[in-house]
Amino acid sequence: MTDLLLGQTLSFSGNPMTEGIGAARHSARGGVVVEAGRIAALGEADDLRRAHPGARVTDYGDALISAGFVDAHAHYPQTAIIASWGKRLIDWLNAYTFPEEMRFSEPAYAATIAARYFDLTLSTGTTTVCSYCTIHPESVEAFFAAARARGLRAYAGKTCMDRNAPEGLRDSAQSAYDDSKRLLETWHGVDRLSYVVTPRFSPTSTPEQLSALGALWAENPGCLMQTHLSEQTDEIAWVKSLFPAARDYLDTYEAHGLLGAGGLYGHAIHLEPRERDRLREVDASLIHCPTSNTFIGSGLFDMEGLSAAGHRIGLATDTGGGSSFSMLRTMAAAYEVAQLRHRALHPCELWWLATQGAARALRAGDRIGNLAPGMEADLAVIDLASTPAIAQRSARANDFWEALFPTIMMGDDRAVRAVWVNGRPV
Ligand code: GUN
Ligand code: ZN
Repeated sequence: MTDLLLGQTLSFSGNPMTEGIGAARHSARGGVVVEAGRIAALGEADDLRRAHPGARVTDYGDALISAGFVDAHAHYPQTAIIASWGKRLIDWLNAYTFPEEMRFSEPAYAATIAARYFDLTLSTGTTTVCSYCTIHPESVEAFFAAARARGLRAYAGKTCMDRNAPEGLRDSAQSAYDDSKRLLETWHGVDRLSYVVTPRFSPTSTPEQLSALGALWAENPGCLMQTHLSEQTDEIAWVKSLFPAARDYLDTYEAHGLLGAGGLYGHAIHLEPRERDRLREVDASLIHCPTSNTFIGSGLFDMEGLSAAGHRIGLATDTGGGSSFSMLRTMAAAYEVAQLRHRALHPCELWWLATQGAARALRAGDRIGNLAPGMEADLAVIDLASTPAIAQRSARANDFWEALFPTIMMGDDRAVRAVWVNGRPV
């Protein structure tokens, strides 16, 4: 079966953060041909109709057909405690997060939350997430089983912690290695699933555990590794006290084999010059989590400086430290945070960060996050007039970007007309 989807289309021929908005391709009446789970062609609606007379046509009218959103850093186990009031990072972890994560030793609870999480993220147009699980292997099984049942490309790993976490949420250096290895061997490369080596952050891992996970990553260089870096100043001071010999926070990872291409460093807000240089040298991915960084009170990511220096940057919700499941809301927060640093991100840059930028951060930019022949057909169809407030503003727009921007700033799941996963509508 060949499907032909018609509407406005938006794709990228390059990185608008460095190449400008000429790297974006917009068609006011375009189309996407989908065959066997992949994009077979992209073009003008009339041309595609002529070239594919037998295709099943779905006409989305004025709605925008885009690559599905990619969320490069989330914690699915925090779904039920999103928007918990009044704490900063360490107190927030102890008061809300750790007690909730404790519940994931129960496979039925993990399965319930995984299903709920994918229902919520798909309804906001997100088709790929990279998630932390909990220390329980059951939480990883539940996540991958739910993603697989939905045909999703998805990334996740067992969160490892062997200190500074409550009884019941601690593993050991050896069990973290053994459990992670077994989960990796079970799930990595199955259908569209990828295992991610996942030390939570330096304060909750002994040097022995960091080394064990560094060894596991070295043994499996095709896997990504995810962790947190320089999110809050109190956290950074704590890391210095726990690792007195380290040159800086990044060094606690670097010294244990946890710095490299394929490393995903969440937050990366308060970086020292040496940390910036090393992250750039190894071409690591920095994951910007703007709703989390404002909600938990962490700080303002230096999008301008880091992108100018050539860093690989992805965008993410950081659910449930982040206050939303939606990449639309996340783009809006990225815009607001950049404004506070005197840089107005263009709608084109915001859209790229939430699709191809996040996919590149996951080293999957050649498979997902863009509309192009050969790419996997994970699509979001976005109504650019989804509420009266948005409709009246986009009606006044002089060009496509001005019509798109109100949906970025004010849109939510009501803007998501349709979602396609692996070439099928869901
Ligand atoms: N640092 C260590 N764990 C976490 C977490 O779950 N959320 C956030 N935002 N930061 C962290
Ligand atoms: Zn996080």
